[in-house]
Amino acid sequence: MPTASSAHRSLLLCLCLCLCIALLSNSAAALPSPRDLRFSVEDIAAVEAALPRRSRASSSKTTFFEVDRPLRPPRGSSGPCSTLLLSHSFAFTLTKPPVTAAYSPPPCLVSGASSVSLAVLEWRAECRGAQYDRTFGVWLGGAEILRGSTAEPRPGGVAWSVSKDVTRYAALLAAGNATLAVYLGNLIDDTYNGVYHANLTLHLYFRPRGGAGARSSPPSAAADAVVPVSRSLPLNDGLWFVVQNATDVQSARVAVPPNAYRAVLEVYVSSHDADEFWYMNTPDQNGPFREVTVLLDGDVVGAVWPFPVIYTGGINPLIWRPITSIGSFNMPTYDIELTPFLGKLLDGEDHELGFAVTNAQRSWYVDANLHLWLDPKSSKTTGGLVAYDAPKLAGSIVSHSADGIDGEYEATASRNITATGWLSSSCGNVTTTFAQRLGFSNTNVVSGHGTAQAINQTTDALTTVTAGAASAQQQVHQSFPLYIFLGGDGSGTSSQRLMRRVEIGFDETRSRGGGAATSTLRNSQAAAAEVTLRDDAVVSASWRMHQTYAFGASDGGCYLRNVSSVGYDVLFDHHDASCAGTTSGR
Ligand SMILES: *[C@@H]1O[C@H](CO)[C@@H](O)[C@H](O)[C@H]1NC(C)=O
Ligand SMILES: *[C@@H]1O[C@H](CO)[C@@H](O)[C@H](O)[C@H]1NC(C)=O
Ligand SMILES: *[C@@H]1O[C@H](CO)[C@@H](O)[C@H](O)[C@H]1NC(C)=O
Ligand SMILES: *[C@@H]1O[C@H](CO)[C@@H](O)[C@H](O)[C@H]1NC(C)=O
Ligand SMILES: *[C@@H]1O[C@H](CO)[C@@H](O)[C@H](O)[C@H]1NC(C)=O
Ligand SMILES: *[C@@H]1O[C@H](CO)[C@@H](O)[C@H](O)[C@H]1NC(C)=O
Ligand SMILES: *[C@@H]1O[C@H](CO)[C@@H](O)[C@H](O)[C@H]1NC(C)=O
Repeated sequence: MPTASSAHRSLLLCLCLCLCIALLSNSAAALPSPRDLRFSVEDIAAVEAALPRRSRASSSKTTFFEVDRPLRPPRGSSGPCSTLLLSHSFAFTLTKPPVTAAYSPPPCLVSGASSVSLAVLEWRAECRGAQYDRTFGVWLGGAEILRGSTAEPRPGGVAWSVSKDVTRYAALLAAGNATLAVYLGNLIDDTYNGVYHANLTLHLYFRPRGGAGARSSPPSAAADAVVPVSRSLPLNDGLWFVVQNATDVQSARVAVPPNAYRAVLEVYVSSHDADEFWYMNTPDQNGPFREVTVLLDGDVVGAVWPFPVIYTGGINPLIWRPITSIGSFNMPTYDIELTPFLGKLLDGEDHELGFAVTNAQRSWYVDANLHLWLDPKSSKTTGGLVAYDAPKLAGSIVSHSADGIDGEYEATASRNITATGWLSSSCGNVTTTFAQRLGFSNTNVVSGHGTAQAINQTTDALTTVTAGAASAQQQVHQSFPLYIFLGGDGSGTSSQRLMRRVEIGFDETRSRGGGAATSTLRNSQAAAAEVTLRDDAVVSASWRMHQTYAFGASDGGCYLRNVSSVGYDVLFDHHDASCAGTTSGR
């Protein structure tokens, strides 16, 4: 058992290193290491011991959850047809090969990918004891289909599950036999003894036969082929590439079938180690701006300005219990339209798709899937690039400080990418334009002689794809606000308080047909935690979370959720999928 004083020491260390950042100094020695934004097992044990007896729950399991809208099959669908793909206990798995299972399409999938109206991948897991949050990935035939962070367990155990819409991988699911691989790099020692037990299940729903739902594919129909851009088995890690620094480029060669008429690259990304909390990094740590650039034969053809996923152990792990941070159990992916470049890709040769991370420090896990639509009526399509403009990233960091400790710096960045190309198939000769307008700003304010730090960041990404007429335009506008406050008082006295606040949002508007069909999501969390220490011991800890999730679509789809927790208890949880104004409580 850790002693109170060892717990106190690490909390104090945490207070000091996090808050006494000599932000504007050039001394690398004064910089915090990323783990200082994490709590040790002793810290957590000391906090749990200070909770009211009722909340300690040492023998019963707690369920943690990520707020998301429920997945519902289109009306008239049959199913689900459910198949357990893998069941495994992840103990000492770090630097070991991924766990694999042979996959063959379930017998209910006989009539092929186009019969699938909804495919859901369900990850259900449990863990008991002490363990860090671990990043895991799931690959089918080398294509990543789910990435998440695990929940950090409690002594009495935790359980969580995530259901992801994997309909866009229908071609992979229906294709022949393949290897399913899961990498979850866990470590077991005397202190960190939590083993992750996980089940992975595929649920398939099917379109009604012959009915209205069986008519030709909807506009957003899944691709005909999904080509992985990742590392190949066998290996002792995930299949993701690991980008280590700002000049590192990781790549794979891909070949495109000769009759492709549309290509979309879906990028998976997560930040780790020195860049886990990249948005809090000082100028000495390459500043707070990061982007993943996608390179085709060395040219930047798209950029991902990632949502800052905070893993379940980040900032203060208590904040994410039981409502986890946005995207942590099911990380978002980002689409780059490559159709304007198809002319080049269709030359019958292999081409290099590479990934770099601007300003990177160790480590970024990046890989991608190339979704391809194939012309059913022709064995050959042709294309050509008409225009391509990708000026250099514009960005700056400005610092202001009177005393070298307290002060402020502001980082901004902006990038535009535009590409236009034609593609001739049996559907005619269509010109496609892909445009990205990306903006970023981050302010980092240190005050109180280095005892408080506040960062306020916004990422704004507007992506437009126009294929043919302006009425066929698709637009995705994402905005990711992030505010983090670290502070405290009483440093060096017998009575201290450590405070953390996080406000984070994932806002997205999608429109199709030049605005004829739209959907809007506003997903926001506001959370705070406070730990009180007296004479070197934790005397109390409290935390609260409020999340609102509002989704609405012009086709009538909607989902509202308004949920709040204090400590481990859910205070209220209102949800409404009818959006008729009635609210059902829990
Ligand atoms: C996984 O499935 C097995 C068999 O159905 C079940 O006993 C076990 O509890 C499941 N584990 C989880 C984490 O759901
Ligand atoms: C696919 O796997 C199944 C079960 O392992 C096996 O019976 C079948 O012969 C395989 N099919 C092919 C085409 O390899
Ligand atoms: C960057 O990372 C690559 C790949 O690990 C390595 O070969 C290279 O030496 C690194 N460069 C610097 C400047 O550290
Ligand atoms: C990107 O385009 C916008 C106008 O759409 C312009 O204001 C901005 O300066 C451009 N940024 C860069 C880096 O070219
Ligand atoms: C398709 O249209 C573009 C521009 O309008 C033209 O340059 C190209 O030659 C056309 N391709 C074919 C195969 O007709
Ligand atoms: C963060 O900055 C934005 C834009 O300047 C501002 O509207 C917002 O109030 C700030 N958030 C906080 C919590 O200070
Ligand atoms: C969420 O529910 C609380 C408690 O019922 C209420 O006070 C608040 O206005 C609701 N917020 C939203 C955005 O609906």
